Amino acid sequence: MALSREELIQAVSAQMPAKRWKHTQGVMESAVALAEKYGADPVKADVAAILHDVAKYWPVAEMEAVIRDNSLNVELLQHDKQLWHSEVGAFVAERDYGVSDSEIIEAIRWHTSGRVGMSLLDKVVCLADYIEPGRDFPGVEYIREQAQRSLEEGLIAGFDSTISLLLSQRRVIYPLTVLSRNDLIAQL
Ligand SMILES: [Fe+2]
Ligand SMILES: [Fe+2]
Repeated sequence: MALSREELIQAVSAQMPAKRWKHTQGVMESAVALAEKYGADPVKADVAAILHDVAKYWPVAEMEAVIRDNSLNVELLQHDKQLWHSEVGAFVAERDYGVSDSEIIEAIRWHTSGRVGMSLLDKVVCLADYIEPGRDFPGVEYIREQAQRSLEEGLIAGFDSTISLLLSQRRVIYPLTVLSRNDLIAQL
């Protein structure tokens, strides 16, 4: 089953509140721009961006069921629920939306935490999620500036902002976020 781009947009936008769809449109815009700037495939970046938050508003119990019933990464269930939608989104992109391209599926899977050895498309989608035009958190301008230098500099600034916020709030840091950040530094 391959949906047209318009059908995909219709189906995904119906899964979320208008505000989150607006964010998704911003990620589409930023992901395509970053793909064009840094030599990734803009069509794949667009599809991954459309789908990246498809599961963001699923009930927690449904996300948990999909992760358990399909033997996805159950270790995630020990961590912040905010991380679950990426894994579930990657799964439903293939099952429910007919995406068969593994680069797109993996870019959805790793858009929140990153991973060690991020692909070019992973980097584009993850960074676009930080800097899309609707984002307005302290430090976003610095991340946008770094994103103009390189994908890696942009992502390091993004992960640093996430880690700093979690530290300041005395919250648990997902270890893969730290490993992703360290790996990007090693790549520079
Ligand atoms: Fe997300
Ligand atoms: Fe997002």
